[in-house]
Amino acid sequence: MPNIGFPSDFLFGVSTSSYQIEGAWNEAGKGESIWDRFAHTPGKISDGSTGDVACDHYHRFAEDVALMREMKVRAYRFSVSWPRVLPEGRGRPNPAGLDFYSRLVDALLDAGILPVLCLFHWDLPQALQEQGGFANRDVTGWFADYAALLAARLGDRVKMWVTMNEPSVYAMLGHATGMLAPGIKDYLTYFKVAHHLNLAHGRAVVAIRDSARAPEVGTVLSLPAIHPRSNTEEDRRAAQVMDGLWNRFHAEPILLGRYPEDLMDRLSALNLPMPAADLAAIRKPLDFLGVNVYTRHFAYHDKNVPLLEAMIDDQFLPRGAAATAMGWEIYPPAIYEMLKRVQTEWGDPVVYVTENGAAFDDVLDGGVVNDPARIDYLKRYLAEVRQAMREGVKVKGYFVWSLLDNFEWAYGFSKRFGLVFTDYPTQRRIPKASAFWYRELIERGSFALE
Ligand code: FCB
Repeated sequence: MPNIGFPSDFLFGVSTSSYQIEGAWNEAGKGESIWDRFAHTPGKISDGSTGDVACDHYHRFAEDVALMREMKVRAYRFSVSWPRVLPEGRGRPNPAGLDFYSRLVDALLDAGILPVLCLFHWDLPQALQEQGGFANRDVTGWFADYAALLAARLGDRVKMWVTMNEPSVYAMLGHATGMLAPGIKDYLTYFKVAHHLNLAHGRAVVAIRDSARAPEVGTVLSLPAIHPRSNTEEDRRAAQVMDGLWNRFHAEPILLGRYPEDLMDRLSALNLPMPAADLAAIRKPLDFLGVNVYTRHFAYHDKNVPLLEAMIDDQFLPRGAAATAMGWEIYPPAIYEMLKRVQTEWGDPVVYVTENGAAFDDVLDGGVVNDPARIDYLKRYLAEVRQAMREGVKVKGYFVWSLLDNFEWAYGFSKRFGLVFTDYPTQRRIPKASAFWYRELIERGSFALE
């Protein structure tokens, strides 16, 4: 049984996001977000739920911090709800909102847990969406102002700053497929949004460095491995196009200061409003890159898709492959592959795995939740992370998605990703077997891989 060990200062953490856990959607001066609007629209969330209450974390944050302390986690990545601190997205701040995050940060520091603050995990103020949201170039300035506000208020205590979470997913699923808020289905809007997210990131990096005390600044990208569905040349080309769209369209400008040439050639007929002069503002030196990996996706050739001629087949599972409750293939080598690409293709930055984890149909039975499949998943992915580290990838930490079961976007409460079970009717938190396993890993610094 090989023993998988980690350096003693390895940052084991857990991740959450504001809309998925906070609730209190219209309390204490908070403005409406695009996720409030989207979830309140009938038919958008598969189980008809909303994040109005979610895990009620806004009122229970002290209990949740105590839970993390129990679990011995060393770091906590959370996000700030932009409309909670700026109800209109810009202009007059909401003191109660700022105060909430200030108290959260103090509680974390008291518990010896490093706060990792993410400025944007998809819950854009609805007031800004009314002005075009991320399709409006002005958003890059609004975002920088918001970043400066937070950095000035919390930058004396928060050391690690993340500008945003998964721009690719926000742009694509929010503006092309319409599965997530704001629910737009328009490819041109999607490209504008993707570019403005990149630019907003760069501007926020500058704003944070100007306003916080010695911050470490990074961003978080979703980096699924993209493989061809078959070995034909056409499918292999489709995989390259889809990798360009999902991964390189953000990684390259942010880390290398250029857009992927193969993709831009393909898209030249669109005359996208992406001035080359923006690239210098997008690529700002970062202290780390956050990487989220869960699985791989399969791409195939589809001549009906204009210009791209490629699609992702999200139903495809290789024969014999196991999947999580999301239908995502359990494929641990994906995380190794993407960490190696960060090292060899994207400038070899310091890396944190900021999300990895799995949804399963967990049940509370006699007061306990046994989730051996999750423990197995985490072990196998962590072993791949360790292998990448042995080969020189500068991975400094790993964060499980998620601390607790929460509102899984368009799936509502039907998907449970937590190390801790949330009993929604009572809001009781019950640590699953995986939470105890994770604590032991953190204490020992190693685990046995069967
Ligand atoms: C990621 C999101 C996170 C969560 C996980 C399952 O794409 O960043 O909020 O929904 O997927």
